Amino acid sequence: MEEQQNEHGHTSFLVFSASLRKDSLNTKLAKLAAQVIQKNGGTVDFAHMQEFDCPTFNQDLEVDNYHPQGAEEFCKRILANDAFIIASPEYNGSMPGYLKNMIDWVSRYRPQPFHQHNALLLSASPSMAGGNRGLWALRIPFEHLGTRVYPDMFSLASAQQAFNEDGTLKDEKLAKRFEDNLVGFMNLVEASKHYPCIKKAWVEFLGEKLTKETERIE
Ligand code: FNR
Repeated sequence: MEEQQNEHGHTSFLVFSASLRKDSLNTKLAKLAAQVIQKNGGTVDFAHMQEFDCPTFNQDLEVDNYHPQGAEEFCKRILANDAFIIASPEYNGSMPGYLKNMIDWVSRYRPQPFHQHNALLLSASPSMAGGNRGLWALRIPFEHLGTRVYPDMFSLASAQQAFNEDGTLKDEKLAKRFEDNLVGFMNLVEASKHYPCIKKAWVEFLGEKLTKETERIE
């Protein structure tokens, strides 16, 4: 257990619920994701959509390098962490408008902060599909912006009846799948953070000279 706790110790995750609602099911799911990450040795920076909400995007507002407070905050938090995890509601088979609006604002920074950042998408809904269509819609702007969106997404169906009092999932098999999904993502984030250094150290250990073919490791 001790070893497991150290494994992801230096990897930090911005975890946020993309619902503005007080009793949000997605906030519950995001909180559970935060718990699972901490249990597996990761560091969590938890946030609510309220912190990132932005006025409706209008290019005319972009004078003197203006960015709204919510975009400023999101940009700061995405850069301060190794990866981000969003639990997003599905509205009409897509993502909530205010979430796309925030993404549009944040995409205006240079360097563009979504580029090459790892992301995991979660959703919760009272429906049988758990809001999964919304996540497919959410992949489009992120992939367009160069985010590495993890292939496995987790959507919690019938979410209004899925949680225990303590915020864990009632269904044990589902709870295991959720944890496996998160740990898989954590492993990827950790590898993409540390693997380039290990590769360089390995080449140096072998005493190999950096040739044209290997110098990309630098
Ligand atoms: C919804 N909801 C919904 N659910 C779903 O599974 N597919 C959908 O297309 C929609 N569409 C939709 C549109 C609008 C405008 C609203 C307000 C709601 C229901 C939604 O999943 C439910 O309200 C969730 O509880 C919202 O997530 P939070 O706020 O609980 O996290």
